Amino acid sequence: MLKGRHLLDPRDLTIEETDNLLELAGDIFLQPEKYSKLCEGKILATLFYEPSTRTRLSFEAAMMRLGGKVIGFSEASSSSVSKGESIADTIRTISCYADIAVMRHPKEGAPKIASMYSSIPVVNAGDGSHQHPTQTLTDLMTIKSLKGSLSNLTVGFCGDLKFGRTVHSLIKSLSRYENNKIILISPEELRIPNYIRKEVLQKNNIEFIEVENIEEVIGSLDILYMTRVQKERFFNEEDYIRLKDSYILDREKMKKASENMIILHPLPRVNEISYEIDEDPRAAYFLQAKYGMYVRMALILKLLGVM
Ligand code: NCD
Repeated sequence: MLKGRHLLDPRDLTIEETDNLLELAGDIFLQPEKYSKLCEGKILATLFYEPSTRTRLSFEAAMMRLGGKVIGFSEASSSSVSKGESIADTIRTISCYADIAVMRHPKEGAPKIASMYSSIPVVNAGDGSHQHPTQTLTDLMTIKSLKGSLSNLTVGFCGDLKFGRTVHSLIKSLSRYENNKIILISPEELRIPNYIRKEVLQKNNIEFIEVENIEEVIGSLDILYMTRVQKERFFNEEDYIRLKDSYILDREKMKKASENMIILHPLPRVNEISYEIDEDPRAAYFLQAKYGMYVRMALILKLLGVM
């Protein structure tokens, strides 16, 4: 039972719970009308202390499409945080008004703190460069629908592997399925954090390599997960400018990729995938954004104990 639980890290869900949730999301996608009234009378609160388009709006649309209502703020400056209120006090208050809360925050661990003071489920919608478990659910739903399985895949992660929280969460999740190989493609300065290398990849005996050149490995991938260089996490602008164009996926590079490889990206894209690639049948990032709403509908139903 997921009722009343928090989702802070993708591993807060067992593999079985994850698979059930994806199955439910698939059914909602096919027959949305069956679910359109299940959250009548319920309220979702979105507490966003950092910018967002897809995550916040897909959560809000998800709750509305289930018949529920939404309250919240989309920048810290419009809440009492700007007056110095703590996360603990904010969530204690929100717990009196809403049935479930979704929080995005620049500080790693902020949603976890919130969960300790909350009497309603708290969902981490991205905490600093740490985790982003609902993006992972979206990614998994896309992979499952296009590849038929979450196992036996060679997955390349390219770009900002240091600060990219979607990468950290998806690696955590994929490392629980059988026989997945991970190829980490990044400049030296943006390599994956040591805790992911040691405590996730090595600890679970996942086969992985780290390279700098995408052309060397693109031909061996089933999935290429592109990411944006996370400008907002850099300490100085010069480093960002130097690294921002490290990888630009274009037609030339795609010639080396297999016909069945799919391209994922959590979005927003800056320039790391050139627009000409959008026409390529292997580009799956807008499908990924679309599925985001359905997995979030499934998650809300489960955490509220409606299903
Ligand atoms: C991502 C995020 O916020 O971490 N966006 C998203 O939720 N789809 C990726 C990013 O900002 O680069």
